[in-house]
Amino acid sequence: MSIFSRRDFLKSSAVGAIGLAGATVASRKYTKTSGIRQSISGEEHEHGQMGAVGEVDHQANGFYPLDLLTDWDYGQVSKLPNGQVMREYYIVATDKELEIVPGVFFPAWTYNGRVPGPALRCVEGDRIRVNFLNAGTHPHTIHFHGIHSAKMDGVPGVGDGTINPGEHTIYEFDAAPFGCHLYHCHAIPLKRHIHKGLYGAFIIDPDPDKYTGSRREVAKSRNHSYIENGMVNEMLMIMNGFDTNFDGENEIYAVNTVAFAYQNEPIPISSGQLQRVYLINVTEFDPINSFHLHANFFDYYDHGTTLEPTLRTVDTIMQCQAQRGILEFNFDGFEPGPYMFHAHQTEFAELGWMGFFELQG
Ligand code: CU
Ligand code: CU
Repeated sequence: MSIFSRRDFLKSSAVGAIGLAGATVASRKYTKTSGIRQSISGEEHEHGQMGAVGEVDHQANGFYPLDLLTDWDYGQVSKLPNGQVMREYYIVATDKELEIVPGVFFPAWTYNGRVPGPALRCVEGDRIRVNFLNAGTHPHTIHFHGIHSAKMDGVPGVGDGTINPGEHTIYEFDAAPFGCHLYHCHAIPLKRHIHKGLYGAFIIDPDPDKYTGSRREVAKSRNHSYIENGMVNEMLMIMNGFDTNFDGENEIYAVNTVAFAYQNEPIPISSGQLQRVYLINVTEFDPINSFHLHANFFDYYDHGTTLEPTLRTVDTIMQCQAQRGILEFNFDGFEPGPYMFHAHQTEFAELGWMGFFELQG
């Protein structure tokens, strides 16, 4: 039995997984990406080129990378007798094959048929009720990062513990603290359950009524029910990786699952608008991941749990698994064009974690 290492895999297939796709695409393909002419070839590596041959079937996956940036799930909203807002969410775990780079299919375990799972969004103090049904083939849970009781923690052996196939449970708690959080399966073996795709964002907006002065203004801009928030261009990016041959190393890296997605379809942005990225790292197997912005700098809010930046004027941030934060920047006064962003583990960038913002004229 021969087990290919990641690097053998690369050598054996021209430009990594790209070679697999190249085998099915006979002719050389050119994609025009906003002024940059990129030639992507399955033949052999040529300098100055990155990416994959062909296109992922987003429709079959059931989600479009550009849509995932802003696809918030606010839940079913009602009011409790005490006036508290209640948000009810429905999450079903299913097995599903996803195309993560053209021609490469990953046997994922998903929440609601997608990786990452639904981006749950609420406001601090809301009552959260998550109805979870396990329609997959393995036992799963949902463990939330946030403040809650032990029995709502979604770990094996506590509360309802592990939820077997066909079973369901309810996780219920009050949303706290405000910030950029995540949830994920906590069944054993943990690294396999997370890496297979069982994770998603859990964003708790600050409640402006709890703050005064400039902090109140920041809270409004972060709270989805305020008009001030509508003026900010918000984007969710979950950094993930995929071990396609199950050797305990990732072969493909991405934000929001599909390799090179935002290189093939750059994210349109405008000058004169605040850009805000909710950035979460769930990459398994590698100890850290990172985000690097080209030609500009950003402010950073570690875990999103403050209303003032915890770091100012940086162009690179690193996160270990489950670390996350909010990036804010603007391109005011910049020349229109494509501005790159990627992991500054350059290996990850070349294996899929690479994208562009397209600054409109
Ligand atoms: Cu699981
Ligand atoms: Cu965790």
